[in-house]
Amino acid sequence: MLFKYENLEKNSIILVIGILIVVAIGGIVEIAPLFYLENTIEKVQGMRPYTPLELAGRNIYVREGCYLCHSQMIRSTRGDVERYGHYSLAAESMYDHPFQWGSERTGPDLARVGKKYSDSWHQEHMHNPRDVVPESIMPAYPFLAKTDLDYRNIAADLRANKEVGVPYTADDIKYAVADLKAQLDPDSDGYDAFIKRYPKAQARDFDGNPKKISELDALVAYLQMLGTLVDFSIYNDAANSR
Ligand code: HEC
Repeated sequence: MLFKYENLEKNSIILVIGILIVVAIGGIVEIAPLFYLENTIEKVQGMRPYTPLELAGRNIYVREGCYLCHSQMIRSTRGDVERYGHYSLAAESMYDHPFQWGSERTGPDLARVGKKYSDSWHQEHMHNPRDVVPESIMPAYPFLAKTDLDYRNIAADLRANKEVGVPYTADDIKYAVADLKAQLDPDSDGYDAFIKRYPKAQARDFDGNPKKISELDALVAYLQMLGTLVDFSIYNDAANSR
């Protein structure tokens, strides 16, 4: 037995193959159960696919690299929970393709930033962060308010998300552009159909300029939604009564 072991140690190819087999077994033992355990992603009430406007805002968030400075994952440590709120649940990023957990926090976590500030705070902050937070080192994004949102491909975007598992319906895709506009104008004809498709979605002009559908409209709609979908008072009660 000892003699055979020596062979293994002296022959690097066999050693590498041996290591790969052992690591693969370890990996399967860790990962395989996740595919059949029912509670890998806890089901929580309130999660819904993003509205077309929020999805467009999310695309801008990704395009501008906001994730390089901001995480969207509140850890279960005391410091995180006290500062940002309930720790993030897997279900909260189930419709994120790709996820925005981030790997670094130069700025604060944004997983629950929705409704924390007013729209006008976000408008000023995006225009020049130093106007509202004097010591901020965040870059300014003044061009977002000036740039028309390009939503020509928004229906295709919903369809692509559907392909990877987001439960958008045929109607969600068909009326994507109408829904995008309706979210910016609750008085419009399309609003009733929109709010039926995306219950409780916040609808208003987000960039402070009702005449323009800007990139800022989409980004602020996205930011104001973050962390607001799951009602944690219900969630905590359900967890406590279990
Ligand atoms: C170079 C790093 C950096 C980048 C890139 C960056 N931020 Fe920030 N962000 C910060 C810092 C630092 C703060 C804290 C100071 C402040 O509020 O400005 C912050 C704060 C924020 C806040 C307020 C959070 C809170 O809870 O107070 C929001 C919202 C925000 N950023 C959104 C964005 C968005 C959207 C983008 C992309 C368009 C972005 N940031 C890009 C560094 C960054």
